[in-house]
Amino acid sequence: MENIIFKEKDGVMFITINRPKALNALNSSTIEELGQVISNVEKRKDIKTVIITGSGEKAFVAGADISEMHTLNAIEGRELARKAQKVFSKIEHMPQIVIAAVNGYALGGGCELSMACDIRVASERAIFGQPEVNLGILPGFAGTQRLPRLVGKGVAKELIFTTDMIDAKRAYEIGLANKVVAHELLIEESEKMARKIMTKGMFGVSLAKAAINDGMNMDTESAYKYEADMFGLCFATEDQKEGMEAFLNKRKANFKNF
Ligand code: CAA
Repeated sequence: MENIIFKEKDGVMFITINRPKALNALNSSTIEELGQVISNVEKRKDIKTVIITGSGEKAFVAGADISEMHTLNAIEGRELARKAQKVFSKIEHMPQIVIAAVNGYALGGGCELSMACDIRVASERAIFGQPEVNLGILPGFAGTQRLPRLVGKGVAKELIFTTDMIDAKRAYEIGLANKVVAHELLIEESEKMARKIMTKGMFGVSLAKAAINDGMNMDTESAYKYEADMFGLCFATEDQKEGMEAFLNKRKANFKNF
C-alpha cells in the first residue's frame, strides 16, 4: 500500500495514515486503501482492537485532499463523499473496537475519521475542527451527522459554522475527545486502553458497540428490543458462563472470546 501502514501486535492492529508531506490528507487512493485494510481486519477473529493514527509530527489527518478535490463537478463530489462515508461506516460497524490516536491536526475529513472510531485519545497537541465552509463546501464525510451526535446540535453548529479550531482540552470538555494524554505517550496510552478492553468478554463488548451504534439510529422502543436481543445472545456464549462463574467463585474471569 502506498499511503497506509499497518502492523499487528498481539491482537491489536495499528493503522497509520501515511502522507506526512500533505499532512495525511485523504486523497481517493488513501480512502480506498483504508477501506481495503478495514475489510481485511474486520474478518480477523484474532484482531480485537484497532488503533488509527497519522504519520509525522503535525497531523492526524488534515482533511480531504483539497488539491485533488478542487476540480470536481457535483456528481464527482457526491461520489467522493459517498466513498469516504462507506469506509467510515465500515469502521463504525466493524466488530473490533477502534481507537483514534489523534496526534495533531484532525480537520475536516480527519475529524470525521476520528468520529467514526469508537474512542478518541488526543495528544496535548491535537487540534480538531471542521473548516469546510472556508472552502465553500460542508462537511461531507458524515461530519454533519456524527458531530451533533457526539457533542450536541448547538456546539456542532458553532464548530461547523465558525470553523473554529479547538485544542485537545476543549475537545475533551465537549465530549469529542475521550482522554487527553502527553504527546509522547499517545500510542502507549491508546494501546493501554485497547488492552484493558481486551481483558473483557469481547463478544459482549462487540455486541455493546452494535447496540449503541445501531440503537441510536432506531426509535427508543425498537432500540430497547434490539438491546434485549443482544443481551440474550450473550447467554449463548462460553464467555457469559465464564464471566458469571468467575464472579460467583471470586476469581478473575479467563475469557476465550467465544
Ligand atoms: N489537502 C491537501 N493538502 C493539504 C491539506 C489538505 N487538506 N492540508 C495540508 N495540506 C498540504 C499543504 O498544501 C502543504 O503542502 P505543500 O508543502 O506542498 O505546500 C502541506 O500539506 C503542509 O501544510 P501547510 O504548509 O499548510 O502547514 P501549516 O502548518 O502552515 O498549516 C493547517 C496546517 C492549518 C492544517 C493547514 O495545512 C490547513 O489549513 N489545511 C487544510 C485544512 C482543511 O481545510 N481541511 C478540510 C479539507 S475539506 C474536507 O475535509 C471535506 C470533507 O468534509 C471531507
